[in-house]
Amino acid sequence: MMFKALKYRLWQVKQELKPRLCEKAWENATANLSPELKAAVEKHNITEKAHLLRVYEAIAKDSTFEESCKGLYLKLALVHDIGKTEMRLCLFFKVVKAFFNYDFAKHDIRGAKILRDLGCSEELAFLVENHHNKNTKNEALAKFQYYDNTL
Ligand SMILES: [Fe+2]
Ligand SMILES: [Fe+2]
Repeated sequence: MMFKALKYRLWQVKQELKPRLCEKAWENATANLSPELKAAVEKHNITEKAHLLRVYEAIAKDSTFEESCKGLYLKLALVHDIGKTEMRLCLFFKVVKAFFNYDFAKHDIRGAKILRDLGCSEELAFLVENHHNKNTKNEALAKFQYYDNTL
């Protein structure tokens, strides 16, 4: 268990140092966002975009998501970390976040505010606000969190 966690952290460091992003796949995934939202997600750096795309693709492939909410969760995959574009943590706080799970930037709350200001649905803003809430009773959100935490 410890080994698995360590292996994952090392993988995360590698993604951070050598990010890879398929531009074409990113363009396709974000093609349906409104111009304002598209501009907002474009503020992400390449490492963050690669993470968003991995989560997006995992949800796209996951047949256990009900069709009625799939679109919402695909959108969530692209916008859930939008709060990170407003306040970036320096390396020290990133390490604190990775090991102690405490985010000084509160990117979930920031992100929800950005979306509300852009006129996005309350449903989407609520999910962004709660995307790290471990006590969620929402099964679809719990599935989303699994991908978010491992991809
Ligand atoms: Fe997040
Ligand atoms: Fe994320």
